[in-house]
Amino acid sequence: MIVDPNQLQSFLDLATEAAYVAGAVLQDYADNLKQIQEKGRPGDLVTEADKAAEAKILDVLHRFVPDHAILAEESGQIGDRHNPFLWAIDPLDGTTNYAHRYPISAVSIGLMIEGIPQLGVIYDPFRQELFRAASGLGATCNQHPIQVSATRELEKSLLVTGFAYDRHQTVDNNYAEFCYLTHLTQGVRRSGSASMDLAYVACGRLDGYWERGLSPWDVTAGVVILQEAGGTVTAYDGSAFDLRSGRILATNGQIHARLSQALQNVPPINVWADGDRFSKLR
Ligand code: IPD
Ligand code: CA
Ligand code: CA
Repeated sequence: MIVDPNQLQSFLDLATEAAYVAGAVLQDYADNLKQIQEKGRPGDLVTEADKAAEAKILDVLHRFVPDHAILAEESGQIGDRHNPFLWAIDPLDGTTNYAHRYPISAVSIGLMIEGIPQLGVIYDPFRQELFRAASGLGATCNQHPIQVSATRELEKSLLVTGFAYDRHQTVDNNYAEFCYLTHLTQGVRRSGSASMDLAYVACGRLDGYWERGLSPWDVTAGVVILQEAGGTVTAYDGSAFDLRSGRILATNGQIHARLSQALQNVPPINVWADGDRFSKLR
């Protein structure tokens, strides 16, 4: 389905309005949170700010695009599953940070059209940075065009990753990957907000990002912003990215093949305690 650029631009403005309204809610609650609950898995939190911000976003979308379908973290699937327009909403990406008053979190609003991410807005209300993009329209931060970094060597890169809430229940918990990539690069950050991770790769503050256990609302917006900023998004092995897989490899493009190769050859975690094997790994 081909969407007229003017229509895409008007959806972008709509998403921006919703992100600003939600961001204001997050700022209002930030210093006086009263309700912090676990949603099920240990550490998977929800606060009254998540719910209030999501309600504001839904309100804006219901008013202007009432026929569109919505997948929102706190409310689930809303509307007609067969509608080609599906909004993926994370009203507060970085809830653990937010609940601890660690100021790295964002509102993330993405739009898929026939299953393909085509538009994204990520708003960080604490730094007042608005990242936006739509297919073919480029990516910006606070209206200025953004681009991925030019770092070509994995050894000179700064990466970011995250650890999903099921990390206590599975050995596929990204710990071994984290150790290996920390060893191979200038560093691996763990921000606690997948959308901000993608936005920061998009504007060149970071060179690459990988993570498992993600949901569509974590990454739909960021994927569009990164691609429009010149980045590459795939599965770990370099095959086509699948939103439902929960896994993403997102980079400036230059280090993509090397990072993909590293992720497919991660040594077992006990290697770091073995002096001989350790010294051969770089
Ligand atoms: C989480 C953050 C975090 C990532 C988790 C996500 P939430 O989202 O994006 O960086 O590691 O996998 O679930 O719960 O703060 O919206
Ligand atoms: Ca999230
Ligand atoms: Ca969230």
